[in-house]
Amino acid sequence: MTEEHSVTIFDTTLRDGEQAPGISLDVKEKLEIAEQLARLGVDVVEAGFPVTSQGDFDAVREIATSVGTQAGAPVIAALARCHPDDVVRAADSLKPADRRRIHVFLSTSEIHRNAMLRGASEDQIIEQAVDGVRRALEFTDDVEFSPQDATRTDVGFLMRIVDAVVEAGATTVNIPDTVGYAIPHDFGALIADVVAQVGAGVAVSVHCHNDLGLAVANSLEAVRNGASQVEVAVNGLGERAGNCSLEEVVMALATRSDLLRRPTRLNTPEIARTSRLVSTLTGYPVQFNKAVVGRNAFAHESGIHQHGILQDRLTYEIMRAEDIGAVGAQIVLGKHSGKHAFAQQLHIMGYELASEEVGRAFTRFKAMADRKTEITDADLEAIVADEVYAPEQEAFELLSLQVSGGTATAPTATVRVRRVEDDTIVDEAAIGDGMVDAVGGAIHRAVGIDGRLVSFNVAAVTPGIDALGDVTVQLSVDGQQFTGRGVSTDIVEASARAFLNALNKSVRLRRPVGAVAEPTP
Ligand code: KIV
Ligand code: ZN
Repeated sequence: MTEEHSVTIFDTTLRDGEQAPGISLDVKEKLEIAEQLARLGVDVVEAGFPVTSQGDFDAVREIATSVGTQAGAPVIAALARCHPDDVVRAADSLKPADRRRIHVFLSTSEIHRNAMLRGASEDQIIEQAVDGVRRALEFTDDVEFSPQDATRTDVGFLMRIVDAVVEAGATTVNIPDTVGYAIPHDFGALIADVVAQVGAGVAVSVHCHNDLGLAVANSLEAVRNGASQVEVAVNGLGERAGNCSLEEVVMALATRSDLLRRPTRLNTPEIARTSRLVSTLTGYPVQFNKAVVGRNAFAHESGIHQHGILQDRLTYEIMRAEDIGAVGAQIVLGKHSGKHAFAQQLHIMGYELASEEVGRAFTRFKAMADRKTEITDADLEAIVADEVYAPEQEAFELLSLQVSGGTATAPTATVRVRRVEDDTIVDEAAIGDGMVDAVGGAIHRAVGIDGRLVSFNVAAVTPGIDALGDVTVQLSVDGQQFTGRGVSTDIVEASARAFLNALNKSVRLRRPVGAVAEPTP
């Protein structure tokens, strides 16, 4: 198999993935994910859509600066509409990266043109697309064009616009199944036609949404028909039902290389960790039975299966857990471990932290080690995510929490919170239907923000009675959703941290009420 047969993995977790409801990553969190994507070895990181907000611009700029300049760095891409200002903004944000791609898009289907582009004619759309590509080429020679809603676009028109953007100099033509409408054999035939149309020298990419649960199947069929790039998101995140899942498509290409014969360049043992990091920072849990990265993906429950696995694991396993780095929780440290061993372990796990960050994480580790005898790599990841990735300066800090009552008497929670801005201490209490409800009420009162609880999720980081509880909440504040997460051996404390985390995010990231709607693709 030769190198040119590799499929280019274009990761859009930080752009399309972040468009999933309730996900609001800040610059630091996006940078952590981009660094991990680079370790995983993706070819292209789509870091954001810079014209939509200053935060998105800053994140792309930061990723271009620190990830995009490392040896062997991925190409850093930014999304732009075919508007001159969008393209300039994308180009500015990408400037520091060694290899940069501007990804311009424009809707082509009749329904999109009528509803979203004031009934623009096919000729007007082609003119605007060509202008967008030419403008982008002024800043980089790596330009991707996407005809949005391609799979509901008249095929004759789709081929005309593909011809026009290739003629204008686009180096990648992406065919998005924007609404997840495609069916594999049909999509494969379309991709074969596009591949024949563009000829050698232009990459054909696909970007499949999962509305019918077919995103991975459609992407594989596209690869079989000559697509050289697939656009993916970690854990399948993205608009609505999400995007083609990185881990599923990559492991399908690896596991069925006998049929597909199209490898990727990914360092697959980094997959499990990437999935956990994205889940942690987005607050989107991974379903237990999710293919490849779900908790049960390598678990065998029935006696017959267990017997088979003990004889020969190939009886019921088509991949090895080691291939994706899911080797089970490794006990790495305990309560007697010192700071040096702690820092060393973080280094082995691939974290490059400043000494002040190691110090913060170590304090949290010590507190945890008093309550939990064996600390695993998954526990350490949770600590780092909670302590280190948190922004340095949040609006509110939890100083103490007390709960009382139970089944016989009404649960009451008392919290002490520091308002960082003016260093004031606020004490508040609330009664609730249960402990967690009481804690949520007290925290809301203390910070003075009205938030409606949309969802509450609790999971254990590792097995065992002393496991860390990992709580994720989604709160709606002024109609915008914010995800918060907290970990602790005590579920009530983890819940308090999660509530405060979401409310702090709402202070940091909330758009002013009545702000102009962002242009989402
Ligand atoms: O789904 C879509 O069409 C997109 C494009 C911007 C590629 O996300
Ligand atoms: Zn999309």
